[in-house]
Amino acid sequence: MKTPIRVAITGAAGNIGYALAFRIAAGQMFGPDQPVILQMLELPLEKTQQALKGVAMELDDCAFPLLHGMVLTDDPKVAFRDASWCLLVGSKPRGPGMERADLLKDNGKIFISQGQVIDEVAGDDARIVVVGNPCNTNCMIAALQAKRLPRERFTAMVRLDENRAKTQLAQKAGVPVTAIDELYIYGNHSPTMFADFTHAKIDGKPATEVISDREWLETTFLPKIGKRGAEILNARGLSSAASAASALIDHVHDLVTPGKVHSVAVASDGSYDFSEGIWAGMPVRTTTPGSYEIVRSYEMSDFAKAKIKITNDELLGERETVKELIGSLLPLFPRVTYRGRTSPASRGRVSSSCRACPSSRCLYSSPSRR
Ligand code: NAD
Ligand code: LMR
Repeated sequence: MKTPIRVAITGAAGNIGYALAFRIAAGQMFGPDQPVILQMLELPLEKTQQALKGVAMELDDCAFPLLHGMVLTDDPKVAFRDASWCLLVGSKPRGPGMERADLLKDNGKIFISQGQVIDEVAGDDARIVVVGNPCNTNCMIAALQAKRLPRERFTAMVRLDENRAKTQLAQKAGVPVTAIDELYIYGNHSPTMFADFTHAKIDGKPATEVISDREWLETTFLPKIGKRGAEILNARGLSSAASAASALIDHVHDLVTPGKVHSVAVASDGSYDFSEGIWAGMPVRTTTPGSYEIVRSYEMSDFAKAKIKITNDELLGERETVKELIGSLLPLFPRVTYRGRTSPASRGRVSSSCRACPSSRCLYSSPSRR
């Protein structure tokens, strides 16, 4: 059995968190021989901390063999301490009539403070995945705080769009979803993103040959993927959660599986004409567990280039919106020192440490985990 890895989940008592933690504990993210310690962060509010305890009780009740410990906390320094993976979910979801970019003002600042704390306390091997919307720009914000961790370690999730796009193409072609290949997402996790059907394959043949209705591909398929989040929000009254958690499982699973090519929003180096320094979806190939290289080999048509320009311009606009925010805000959470004794955020914690805890400041003390 391998040494357990520490996986931090923010917003662990939220809708995505509730659909995510159990699947990680079951081994679906890191594999059936990789034990995990879940370090779960929630807001310092009684209600959310209570809900987090409920999640932990249910995790206990599953008796997952790979779950070697849990840390429950309202302190980012405890949550991110020595973490190999930091899954940044905790943030506000949009409501009906909103675009994801409307969340920037509320959510952007979360990623300033969390980026700083992660850089300070996470493991040397830390990888960070941003799910909280607008995830591309939030990821850029978090990465800009880092002095120790390289920016390639910060990725944002566009995998839900890839999964959605595969299913829509498969349904149109009347084939299983496994028949779809090389369908990657470029740009922002927003209606402007480009699901590149021009290079996609269906059973090894060009998707544009199997689905010869080009008008459907351009005017039905693309907007469908771009607006799928809003469609789900309207139907459920809540934003997607189980499918988002599933996409995050896929995102990380494929990032720890060498050889996998998949859609990830990464720091642009100018590939595909994305502006340098924004975080844009594109295909990457996993090289070693947690590391990747951008797949630069797809030749883009004028149609594809025009689509990429639109989503690139939107990302530049988001970067412009947060220009003032970056570097100007104080962290949202109290900056307690690790092992510090006096902080409002440390009140009420259980003082004995369980075997999972890097400190005695965890809120959860299950006897079985001490
Ligand atoms: P939710 O409201 O159900 O849960 C969010 C949780 O985060 C809450 O429990 C809240 O208390 C917690 N939280 C808020 N701020 C926090 C902070 N600073 N630190 C720690 N925890 C914090 O929302 P949800 O449905 O789980 O969605 C979470 C985010 O994920 C939203 O921003 C949503 O838009 C985004 N999302 C992204 C994708 C994607 O594909 N990238 C898909 C779906 C949802
Ligand atoms: C999604 O794509 O479902 C999420 O980003 C949630 C949303 O606000 O659309």
